[in-house]
Amino acid sequence: MAQTKQHVPQLGKDPLKKVIAAMTVEEKVKLIVGMGMNYDNIPDGILPPKDPADAKIPEKVPGAAGRTHAIARLGIPSMTLSDGPAGVRIDPKRKGEKRTYYATAFPVGTLLASSWDTSLVSRVGRAFGTEVREYGIDVLLAPAMNIQRNPLGGRNFEYYSEDPVVAGNIAAYFVKGIQADGVGTSIKHFAANNQEYNRMQLNTNLSERALREIYLKGFEIAVKKAQPWTVMSSYNLINGTYTSESRGLLTQILRNEWGFKGMVMTDWFAGKSATEQVNAGNDMLMPGIYAETTEILESVKDGKISQQQLDLNVERILEMILKSPTFKHYKYSDKPDLVKDAQISRIAATEGMVLLKDNNNALPIAKTKRVALFGNTSYDLIAGGTGSGDVNKPYIISLNQGLVNAGYVLDNGLQKEYKDYIVQAKLNRPKPKVAFFAPAPISEMVLTDEMLQSESDKTDVAIFTIGRNAGEGNDRIQENDFDLTAIEQQNLKNISAVYHTKGKKVIVVLNIGGVTEIASWRDEADGVLLAWQPGEEGGNAITDVLSGKVNPSGKLTATFPLKYTDVPSAKTFPGQLVGDTTAPGNPLMGRAAAVTYNEGIYVGYRYYSTFNIKPAYEFGYGLSYTKFAYSGLRLNDKTLINNDLTVTIIVKNTGKAAGKEVAQLYISAPAKQLNKPAYELKGFAKTRLLQPGESQTLTFKITPADLASFNTAQSAWIADSGSYTVKVGSSSLQIKQSAEFKLANDVIVEKVKPILLPTTEINEIK
Ligand code: BGC
Repeated sequence: MAQTKQHVPQLGKDPLKKVIAAMTVEEKVKLIVGMGMNYDNIPDGILPPKDPADAKIPEKVPGAAGRTHAIARLGIPSMTLSDGPAGVRIDPKRKGEKRTYYATAFPVGTLLASSWDTSLVSRVGRAFGTEVREYGIDVLLAPAMNIQRNPLGGRNFEYYSEDPVVAGNIAAYFVKGIQADGVGTSIKHFAANNQEYNRMQLNTNLSERALREIYLKGFEIAVKKAQPWTVMSSYNLINGTYTSESRGLLTQILRNEWGFKGMVMTDWFAGKSATEQVNAGNDMLMPGIYAETTEILESVKDGKISQQQLDLNVERILEMILKSPTFKHYKYSDKPDLVKDAQISRIAATEGMVLLKDNNNALPIAKTKRVALFGNTSYDLIAGGTGSGDVNKPYIISLNQGLVNAGYVLDNGLQKEYKDYIVQAKLNRPKPKVAFFAPAPISEMVLTDEMLQSESDKTDVAIFTIGRNAGEGNDRIQENDFDLTAIEQQNLKNISAVYHTKGKKVIVVLNIGGVTEIASWRDEADGVLLAWQPGEEGGNAITDVLSGKVNPSGKLTATFPLKYTDVPSAKTFPGQLVGDTTAPGNPLMGRAAAVTYNEGIYVGYRYYSTFNIKPAYEFGYGLSYTKFAYSGLRLNDKTLINNDLTVTIIVKNTGKAAGKEVAQLYISAPAKQLNKPAYELKGFAKTRLLQPGESQTLTFKITPADLASFNTAQSAWIADSGSYTVKVGSSSLQIKQSAEFKLANDVIVEKVKPILLPTTEINEIK
């Protein structure tokens, strides 16, 4: 009798458990160990050898950061994962094809967050998600949402804030927007990855309270509000354990405490032990190293990894695949609407720019004014940072072009001089060894008195742009980066002297990705616009704000200190080498290093306001071309037991231009068992565009969980009984209205297991 052919379970058609049961151990490991990326542009000897079999599998989307292995006999397709936070990062050109595959460069993360506008961020997410889907990608490796602990963090531009409530909410709405397009996200880098210094072997020592209240809180908010398909664990260690190898972090906290339903992947080449990663619940290892496959197979054989654990990780990966457009045979067009998305990029950019200074209505600049445009980045705008957060964009609109597009008259001679200077300076600068890293900045042209005299005769106003770039792999430094260079200082002084003598105004535009020094030079300028790194439409967007077409409504999501030494982590950043400091660093992994967060929970404004350190511009600060008044603060209850609190306030536009206002809600909590910051942000809301005279009532919801601090001794989130003050303001220092309420009893919001405890003593400031 002829034997009937045995049915092979198929993904999506048969129950998932049956598909898993039909998989060989080798197939399971294939799924767990990823595939890609194309290393052709990286010099030999830096990255570990690939599985030779993988090299033969053609890339579906060239330039994407990674893929998963297909297992055809079970109907499991290969997923494509791509960076990154500011745009879909893929190769713009493909072998043998004439057409291009550019993606929209949206504004960097810090700018998006500075809009404090969750619906705008969702809208950007939708546009972004469509590009992901239309380019045949399944998961976007974004958003990046680590805390901006120190202004010099090299990837701060990708991150959102020094505050977890801002970071968590902005990330949540970005994720919701992207995932509404049927593609996944990967919130990263989980967690406490706040700098680049020896990032792959950096041990971050910090207290459990600081970890939970500051560095995990944003991820918790994003997970609970948006359920990202995936989480990317980080490179660093926390208190001696690699995050990708920490079961406490990836299983206990992420899944058991927060209810995360998706899957976890490593950051690229992260960690040391593949076995520990699998056991921690780090489901997928990216981008997949041959040696990991052999190690995991051995560990399964030896029983170091249980079948059950292996199956669990496989199941989570398959659940993600089931949701993906590739699995659903989505017919992607390879033609996202880049024209439409450019407009969204431009709108978003204008919404997140922050007006720092505007004396005597220096801004907006009337179209009739003749403009002298100084500074390299006026002509060579930095649209975004470098590294995996970079995008292959179709174009960048410079500020020069933006002003011309809007009809401003610029001095042609000066434009030509700058353009020629920049071309020459770029030819002369050293090339980075790997194109991925930031190129050396070019120095500013020295502006002579003769030149300035003639320019100031020909023009009515001077704009001086100061630019900074940074990115993955390197932190910034104080000299010539956080601080202005000597030439920048001199140029600004001279422009200011000459223009002011003639009664003409000077505007500074900051085209930067992170906090810089500002206090020593701001008196030279009548207006300062923080334009951040605004994406491909940057020049048009800056012009929209400078011209008054858009009234600025962005606010700072990080403090600008008076000087670097005021930063609470100035003394400990970026840490130091540990172990044998003379041994040569590994070309990929760098060296073993450590950093100790002895400022504890006092990061950013929590520090400046509690210890009364005056900043240059405080957290939450930002001006507008109009004015707002706050009134009618109301709490629905004055005594809470275990219930939520509803807070309302009326914001009225009392000025002459239409505008939007970001209202921030801070709470001062009683300090009973623990030291507490002076106040902490617990909510924020942005008004719609209010016409002069128009008002809007904003509503905030506060739950007992929002009032809780992490009490390490009791291993619990506790809201202490006592008197609380609600403060609503236009910044962390401009509190407009406040009111009190009482919490009748201590509320133990959640009891948890102690996790990732420090292994060395940390002398935290109090
Ligand atoms: C970065 C990640 C990125 C990954 C893939 C890593 O070096 O840290 O943010 O997603 O590379 O490109």
